[in-house]
Amino acid sequence: MSNLKKRLKVVQVGIGKMGKIWLDILRSDSRIQLVGLVDIDNQALEYSRKLCQGDQVKVGENLLDILMETHPDFVLVVTPPFTRKSVICQSLRSGCHVLCEKPLASTFNDLKKIVKMADLSGKLLMVSQNYRYHAGAILVRSLVTEGTIGELISIDVRYADSPNFCDWRTIIDHPLLIDMSIHHLDLIRFLTGLDPIKVFCQETFDKNFYFKGSPTVKMILGLDNSATVNYSGTWASTHINSSLCGEWILTGSKGIIKWNGEYEANLWQQNRLMEKYVVEKEKKDKLELSLEFFIKTLNDFKKHEIPNSYKDNLPTIKTALSACRSAEKQELVII
Ligand SMILES: NC(=O)c1ccc[n+]([C@@H]2O[C@H](COP(=O)([O-])OP(=O)(O)OC[C@H]3O[C@@H](n4cnc5c(N)ncnc54)[C@H](O)[C@@H]3O)[C@@H](O)[C@H]2O)c1
Repeated sequence: MSNLKKRLKVVQVGIGKMGKIWLDILRSDSRIQLVGLVDIDNQALEYSRKLCQGDQVKVGENLLDILMETHPDFVLVVTPPFTRKSVICQSLRSGCHVLCEKPLASTFNDLKKIVKMADLSGKLLMVSQNYRYHAGAILVRSLVTEGTIGELISIDVRYADSPNFCDWRTIIDHPLLIDMSIHHLDLIRFLTGLDPIKVFCQETFDKNFYFKGSPTVKMILGLDNSATVNYSGTWASTHINSSLCGEWILTGSKGIIKWNGEYEANLWQQNRLMEKYVVEKEKKDKLELSLEFFIKTLNDFKKHEIPNSYKDNLPTIKTALSACRSAEKQELVII
């Protein structure tokens, strides 16, 4: 059997809410051989042992021990953001490729160390930004890049939700920016092919709310073609929630695209609705598509050295961390 056809051995770290969804995807993928599961929580370990009873899967709380016992091809990281540096660096140092959930890091300091380790290790490090596989996002991206609205002038994004978290999100700084807005910041880049170059961000604290950090932000971003983004996001929504991707108005020199963050986008020109575009929901789960891209990149990576994939994500994570810095200092930050 050729190397490419061999099943890829995987250790997953983090078996929480998102980890359980990832675990189902790994277990149903014939290209994957799950060899280890790591978590520091007893209930998560018990769940993992029950689920994998009878399978050849090592379960434990010490990542290095599990890596030494199982020698995986790659590690899937689904732990909270503040654990990234330690989990990613241990995995790369142990000779494993890494696929990690967003965000790549939760501080500039951690980001620097992760990047250094990725470069030293020569292993593939990729961030899963699964909203890029949303069929509606792919539709809007093609409309924008084909020039349907001409040159992009501005974007308005509104995200609003009212989740009831009782986890790390309620005790970290900048929870919305780090955990949720990062999806929308990445979508700005994906939909337009443009990168943010400056940001001013203001966070709002509602004393009746249960987060330590702010669940509500307003941001103005400047893109590298001089277009402006006006972003509003909240987890403290009381009246009208948006879709997870948010509601978008993209204004160009030749028209406007309104996207509901789902599977419909409308083209407006001179105050008239000119076209309604509707696409079908993705046939595969967006995480599955993210995994597929990782495996494809991994296979190419073996054939010829390609630029390490985390670099594609750097403008996204740097924008999110710059927004945190702007909110702290109350000043415009150049990214
Ligand atoms: N892409 C998406 O749509 C999406 C959706 C939800 C969450 N996420 C991301 O997934 C990650 C996990 O989020 P979640 O909601 O599953 O959180 P969670 O709290 O439900 O789960 C995290 C798990 O990691 C474990 N853990 C913590 N520190 C660890 C360590 N050092 N070593 C091993 N295990 C450790 C915890 O015990 C817990 O079981 C976050 O980065 C989050 O941003 C992505």
